[in-house]
Amino acid sequence: MAHYTGLIEKYRDRLPVSADTPIISLNEGNTPLIELKNLPRLIKKNVRIYAKFEGLNPTGSFKDRGMTMAVTKAVEAGARAIICASTGNTSAAAAAYAARAGIACFVLIPEGKIALGKLSQAMMHGSVVIQIRGNFDDGMRLVQELAKTTPVNIVNSINPYRLQGQKTIAFEIIEALGDAPDYHALPVGNAGNICAHWMGYSESVCEHTRACALCNGKCEYHKEKTATRRPIMLGYQASGSAPILRGRPVENPETVATAIRIGNPVSWQQALAAQKESGGWFGECTDEEILHVQKLLAQTEGIFCEPASAISLAGLLKDLELGKIGEGTTIVCTLTGHGLKDPDIAIAQSTRPMTVDAELGPIERVIRDNLKNI
Ligand code: F0G
Repeated sequence: MAHYTGLIEKYRDRLPVSADTPIISLNEGNTPLIELKNLPRLIKKNVRIYAKFEGLNPTGSFKDRGMTMAVTKAVEAGARAIICASTGNTSAAAAAYAARAGIACFVLIPEGKIALGKLSQAMMHGSVVIQIRGNFDDGMRLVQELAKTTPVNIVNSINPYRLQGQKTIAFEIIEALGDAPDYHALPVGNAGNICAHWMGYSESVCEHTRACALCNGKCEYHKEKTATRRPIMLGYQASGSAPILRGRPVENPETVATAIRIGNPVSWQQALAAQKESGGWFGECTDEEILHVQKLLAQTEGIFCEPASAISLAGLLKDLELGKIGEGTTIVCTLTGHGLKDPDIAIAQSTRPMTVDAELGPIERVIRDNLKNI
């Protein structure tokens, strides 16, 4: 098997690149699709749930899929600097890919509101980190102004190349499952990723399958396509940052899931269109529900994702409980970022480690006591 060298090389015929495009890659993509074995048993539901673990991308989140495309195209166009507003992960990815490309990177982040791991990445990769006394939505507004007044290239998801890269997640899922799943659940913040997923799934089916199932998967055109259907899209927002559910911007969004602490998503309308076209819905979860499921996933399946990512599973579990999703179905949840991104949250909700003398006795006692409870 050929050495995997990233999603642009793998899907170059489905992406806007030419033979001369100078590809900037860290071998992103190709993330594992992990079937959850214990959770369905625990909730007593006959469903297949898969986690697409995007935390295993080079900078620990799905942002790398879009950033390889955005930075590649920026370099192709001769850009010397990129800029983004971020709740953390975009800044980490932008900083890393800019370093790889040898160009400058400016990131605007809400002061005190991004997870420690993400901040350390933006700093370590040498980007210019600008903390603003404001939130992500303020930052988003500012970078759009700055791109008009300074020679910087925006790499937020309003940059169309970002979604082009991110759509490849759907290609990988279809390859792994042999077709699209019945449902696809994911977190919604600035709302670009749900649109990218929908784009990827839509490009994988023929017009007939998309519109009226006329050909039943058998037309000429269909033969080049990889899926016979598109999934029902489920987008979840944190209760304190749920503008799409409320139907209006949230001025002061709040949630423990800082990655999706966004009150006025840029891709709002396109996300609504994807939801409607797919026959899906938006839902919300409280911070307590998000943290509970983050821990549940870590402790029952061995998968450590960040709080924002856990909302895809938290929302799904709620909707399964409510009977909104039938038995016998296949569901994919995108786990957008790695749990290591936000160590403070993980430590705050875990049992504190004990300290004992460096002797056999007390440690043996701990082992015996704990084994009693198993
Ligand atoms: N999950 C994680 C871990 C994220 O970092 C983000 C967005 C989302 C979900 C939501 O994706 O915005 O496409 O709806 N993070 C952006 C950032 C805003 O700056 O890192 P979306």
